[in-house]
Amino acid sequence: MNTIQIEALVKQMTRLEKIGQMTQITTSFFNVDGAKATGTASRMKDVEQHKWIVGSVLGKLDAASMLRIQRDYLQHNRLGIPLLFMTDVVHGYKTIFPVPLALSCSWNPEVLRRTARVSAVEAAAAGFQVTFSPMVDLVRDPRWGRVMESFGEDRLLLGQFGAAMVEGYQTDDLQQPDTLAACVKHFAGYGAAEGGKDYNTVDLSPLSLYNDYLPAYHAALQAGARLMMAAFNTLNGVPATANTWLLQDILRKQWGFDGTVISDWGAVKELIPHGVAAGSEDAARLSLQAGIEIEMMTTAYIEALPELCEQHPELEQKLDEAVTHILQLKQELGLFDDPYRGVSEAREQEMLLHPSHRQAAREAAVQSMVLLKNQNALPLNPNHRLALIGPFADNQHLLGPWSVDGDPNHTVTVLEGLNQQGVHVQSLSTDDNRIDEDVLHQAIELIQQSDTVLLALGEREEWSGEAGSRASIGLPLDQLKLLRIAAAAGKPVIVVMFAGRPIELAEVAHHADAILMAWFPGTEGGHAIADILTGRSNPSGRLTMSFPYHSGQIPVHYNHLNTGRPAHLLTQEKRYKTQYLDVPNESLYPFGYGLGYSEFAYGDIDADTCELSIDRPLQVSIPITNNGEYTGCETVQVYIHDRVAEIARPVRELIAYQQIELKPGEKARVEYTISAEMLGYYHTDLQYRADPGEFELIIGPDSRRGASVMIRLV
Ligand code: GLC
Repeated sequence: MNTIQIEALVKQMTRLEKIGQMTQITTSFFNVDGAKATGTASRMKDVEQHKWIVGSVLGKLDAASMLRIQRDYLQHNRLGIPLLFMTDVVHGYKTIFPVPLALSCSWNPEVLRRTARVSAVEAAAAGFQVTFSPMVDLVRDPRWGRVMESFGEDRLLLGQFGAAMVEGYQTDDLQQPDTLAACVKHFAGYGAAEGGKDYNTVDLSPLSLYNDYLPAYHAALQAGARLMMAAFNTLNGVPATANTWLLQDILRKQWGFDGTVISDWGAVKELIPHGVAAGSEDAARLSLQAGIEIEMMTTAYIEALPELCEQHPELEQKLDEAVTHILQLKQELGLFDDPYRGVSEAREQEMLLHPSHRQAAREAAVQSMVLLKNQNALPLNPNHRLALIGPFADNQHLLGPWSVDGDPNHTVTVLEGLNQQGVHVQSLSTDDNRIDEDVLHQAIELIQQSDTVLLALGEREEWSGEAGSRASIGLPLDQLKLLRIAAAAGKPVIVVMFAGRPIELAEVAHHADAILMAWFPGTEGGHAIADILTGRSNPSGRLTMSFPYHSGQIPVHYNHLNTGRPAHLLTQEKRYKTQYLDVPNESLYPFGYGLGYSEFAYGDIDADTCELSIDRPLQVSIPITNNGEYTGCETVQVYIHDRVAEIARPVRELIAYQQIELKPGEKARVEYTISAEMLGYYHTDLQYRADPGEFELIIGPDSRRGASVMIRLV
């Protein structure tokens, strides 16, 4: 079906049929149970008539029910327009990969691309055609539960990893039956919710939006994503769902987006509590005028638009634009040629949890974990008797809060992973919140019989994710009590930490000899953890979100401004500078940080000159040596500090990075081309350009350390 035929089809549609295409309900309306509700859902009047004209559904599905629903639907739909099936495949469908914040710590777009590819193969086999992913909201506040879905605090990584997931979901041919159309979200600025409380108010300056928060959404669209989801939050007073500046001026006019725009769950009717709509009619009008083309889970459109369009005929054109985008999406997915996209129960059976998918998940989990501390405690001594204790010792809930269709029964636990690698381990599982005296006594006995203590600690899955905001991001007190008991025994204490966010780890860092941040590592979590603890794999993950000493420091992120009284410069001044009196000024573990079993040494930066221009980029390189005993992967990071600019610029900005694997004793020279484009930013006129002048160029293992040179843009 080409554009001409779509136009002809739109002309045949009644107004109600057009509005139906713009309405999305759950699969439960078609007798499939288990759709996960993350907001209110309107009861649809006249369900029997309307459900055969809705354009799409989201929620629980399998191959058999998709085939049944599509068949019934096509028998009832007057024009034979196929139904579209959407879902949240965020980091895996049935084979669950680490949560996106973990995946981002691989600093490897190929890991993201492969995660999305496997996710698409499995979800498409189950009947889905669209996923609400990638989420590319920039985050600086770990109190917000949805940081687990993000790729962290840096806009370059967010954009690259979001684009990689789009490519993995869609490939270059959406007509292929094992692809998913990607929906970028949440447009825009959702990660800046005030106080880290979900759905909360967002106020961002134009410069902050243009320089930090918007680039990643744009990069994901430039990778070809076919949908954009509007965010729940207000942006500078106007809810994103009704924000014409966002959805028209930026998305359509500046970026030229020609795909479909969908609301978030119930967000159209949420314009009423937001206080910009008096009722459903207002909500429908404002959303339609702003550019929402599919209303998710509420029915303001189907209730109010027929009458509204009668009163305001000019709205009819908005209907036609929206329906054209929706039909084009269905056509791009090949649904007019094959509404079933080759789905079969046999293929579903073959694809879900395929061994090659599990292997990909295991490899992704190994690359996502971050070794935060290691004082000669890891790799494990194979002759040591290990005491494995804590709420995650033998716990299958390692999938994370957005593993909608994952099944914990398939998860490999830490205990299983260690057993399968022949580690001599005795385990004691505890509750994650309350650890009674008798359990603590059992722990003491177990520790006395062991040589090394491995504590599997953290926060439960539902403490992060959507609506998973916490005012304090510390560990439960009883887990800290267990940690102190273990430390008092005088044996090596290793902590494996499970969470969907950065956690306050100052006390853990004080007591533990080693800390491995495992996040929520997914279906293969236990295997990946055992791979790292035994030294079978060398950890290479690097943080993409800073870990604060204390919740009170939040927001603490690497790319902050210097201020007029930077604490690190005013060393003589004890009080009157940018600092806290009661906690250190910087993060406990910074962006880009991570350890491994190798020891990488950096030499000095070599540059053919220290000058570059728009026409002549700068070639720089740096020698790296692996002085350790393990082959390892190092992520060599390049930052700049624009010393004098039209606006205050961050003290560090990531502009490039490369990963290099070196054998013990091996040396290599890592080379970069620095362009003027990399040194640019949006000025007060909201135009992107680089200023001539001096820049500090830093190359190192993380955002806090490295060799530096001054370079000049002429
Ligand atoms: C949720 C989330 C969004 C998700 C949608 C569908 O409320 O905000 O990220 O894709 O609803 O489940």
